[in-house]
Amino acid sequence: MNLEYLSGFGNEFASEALPGALPVGQNSPQKAPYGLYTELFSGTAFTMVRSEARRTWLYRIQPSANHPAFSKLERQLAGGPLGAVTPNRLRWNPLDIPSEPTDFIDGLVGMVANSGSEKPSGISVSNYRANRSMERVFFNADGELLIVPEQGRLRIATELGVLDVEPLEIVVLPRGLKFRVELLDAQARGYVAENHGAPLRLPDLGPIGSNGLANPRDFLTPVAHYEDLKQPTTLVQKFLGELWACELDHSPLNVVAWHGNNVPYKYDLRRFNTLGTVSFDHPDPSIFTVLTSPTSTHGLANLDFVIFPPRWMVAENTFRPPWFHRNLMNEYMGLIQGAYDAKAEGFLPGGASLHSCMSAHGPDGETCTKAINVDLAPHKIDNTMAFMFETSQVLRPTQFALDCPQLQPSYDACWASLPATFNPNRR
Ligand SMILES: [Fe+2]
Repeated sequence: MNLEYLSGFGNEFASEALPGALPVGQNSPQKAPYGLYTELFSGTAFTMVRSEARRTWLYRIQPSANHPAFSKLERQLAGGPLGAVTPNRLRWNPLDIPSEPTDFIDGLVGMVANSGSEKPSGISVSNYRANRSMERVFFNADGELLIVPEQGRLRIATELGVLDVEPLEIVVLPRGLKFRVELLDAQARGYVAENHGAPLRLPDLGPIGSNGLANPRDFLTPVAHYEDLKQPTTLVQKFLGELWACELDHSPLNVVAWHGNNVPYKYDLRRFNTLGTVSFDHPDPSIFTVLTSPTSTHGLANLDFVIFPPRWMVAENTFRPPWFHRNLMNEYMGLIQGAYDAKAEGFLPGGASLHSCMSAHGPDGETCTKAINVDLAPHKIDNTMAFMFETSQVLRPTQFALDCPQLQPSYDACWASLPATFNPNRR
């Protein structure tokens, strides 16, 4: 297996698993090399402006069209349907990893969503738990997938090549890309944001300049790798939120060569060039944006993927934790490792929290009291990696998320211990 990667973001990559498999000078010759079939994989409308367009040419053993009818699966995704709207702040303990055999698809549990899958905007967020490799192959017609492992390494075999990812790395799979998730450890757990809107891209840097945050060369796309397997394979797709499957007599991961920019990629969050204040206060958390899916309103994201990595805190005369906040945007947070600097307890690796539009949040009582009274010196927040899926439309929890025993009954209490410090006689 070839586990090499191509470096860069948004590039027109080219890769071939056999020498000369990629036609030169044209996309669709009468006879493709090696008797391969040509197929175009479009991730955006044909007419999208060039800077936004995503498409890849595939040279494969069989075209994807060679499949029988799909039938709706009896076992559908866990978590749905959406539950009642709530303005309340919610926090969940980590979901248990099941003991019965559970692959990546069966282990997906819908947690929150702000759009039906038929809309070209919004996101759906799931957690995943798995204890066995997929034997079937899956694709998601409903959106791009951003996978954030929290436990366990994954080998993701895709049509365009194979990616190995581990906690503290992320992987993005384009809408419709066929893939199989294999476990490299006994079990795996993490988070998935399904992006129904514009494909994720790097944020603009403005006055930051031409370097910093996530640098393009650290995004890695696999090289071509194909399976020439004539064996029964179940192909599952998610279409408008429902799982459908058909039986193939071959592996659909049979692309021998490809070129284009509609590609899967991974990124190591430890390579994020974290920026922050060197004077006082701290910038808005948008300074930690790794990837963004824009809307048609400039500056308003359909999805921002934001991380809170290890970093030095040096601000003088400053309340250093994340400030108290009310936000137009909706924030679904998770924790990959360590502790998050706004919470002394209760926010655990594998857990999650939801702060919806205009719901007040910020450091808990213990963190706040400590931050007000501590002698400020340069201090490193280490061994931590929290993240946020931030989105412009209100997220509704699924019925599962509202009913599960992992939902903490008294999240609000973490702010109840904020001390009364106001004294009109002492400035
Ligand atoms: Fe916030």
